[in-house]
Amino acid sequence: MMNNSPVLSVKDITAGYYERRVLQGINLDIKENEIVLLIGPNGAGKSTLLKVIAGILNPWGGEVFLKGRQVNGVSTAKRAKIGISYFLQGGEVFPNLTVQENLETAGFGINRKIFFSRMERLFKLFPHLSDLKQRRAGFLSGGERHQLALGMIFVRNPVLMLLDEPSAGLSPLLVNELLEKVKDMRKDLNASILMVEQNVKEGLRIADRVYLMKAGEIVKESSPEKIRKERLLENIFFS
Ligand SMILES: Nc1ncnc2c1ncn2[C@@H]1O[C@H](COP(=O)(O)OP(=O)(O)OP(=O)(O)O)[C@@H](O)[C@H]1O
Ligand SMILES: [Mg+2]
Repeated sequence: MMNNSPVLSVKDITAGYYERRVLQGINLDIKENEIVLLIGPNGAGKSTLLKVIAGILNPWGGEVFLKGRQVNGVSTAKRAKIGISYFLQGGEVFPNLTVQENLETAGFGINRKIFFSRMERLFKLFPHLSDLKQRRAGFLSGGERHQLALGMIFVRNPVLMLLDEPSAGLSPLLVNELLEKVKDMRKDLNASILMVEQNVKEGLRIADRVYLMKAGEIVKESSPEKIRKERLLENIFFS
């Protein structure tokens, strides 16, 4: 049966830390197969929103739906099982495990047949990772580590990837390369992506749609073309 609900639907989400409210009532939708870019200045609440969607942080109010199913109160582990995968800001891997072991750990609980086919595809997408299978993740370069962290999401066969600055700290050349891989991953998985990216120009190249966030609010929904044309970025970041 076809399910026409958006892959992700966020309704009136408020959240914060201790007494302090960070998210002021967030609404957004992500359709099947979309790459949606979330941009905004430091401290706007982008990571906070991703944490709420991943189930790491409980919202104060509002609702999160995954394919029409309300997931408030559903644990992070269960959300991962439904198909939400989360790339933590900084790109977390287990430094004492090898690349292969990191991927196996990430794939824990995933159907073996699916996992092995994902592994095969991953090494086609990132041939360099394949050469590094036996290396400890703690010895990887920044670019390699980010590839591994993305790979750990990929092998879980997600329907929704939440990527918090996947290209942070990479050289300009590597930023574009990594974001192209993100696009390839989307195509391969037929998944949807919500991505926070400070390399806005590069992020716009692969995005289908953009939300601008400021002080805990979505202040604009737009297309990459419009953002470029209207020079909206200056307004968001510098006013
Ligand atoms: N664990 C926490 N405890 C208390 N306050 C926090 C915590 N995490 C974030 N904050 C605060 O919440 C606000 C939003 O933070 P958040 O990390 O969501 O911003 P961001 O948009 O992701 O910023 P950046 O672009 O710098 O990553 C900030 O003012 C931050 O200081
Ligand atoms: Mg952040």
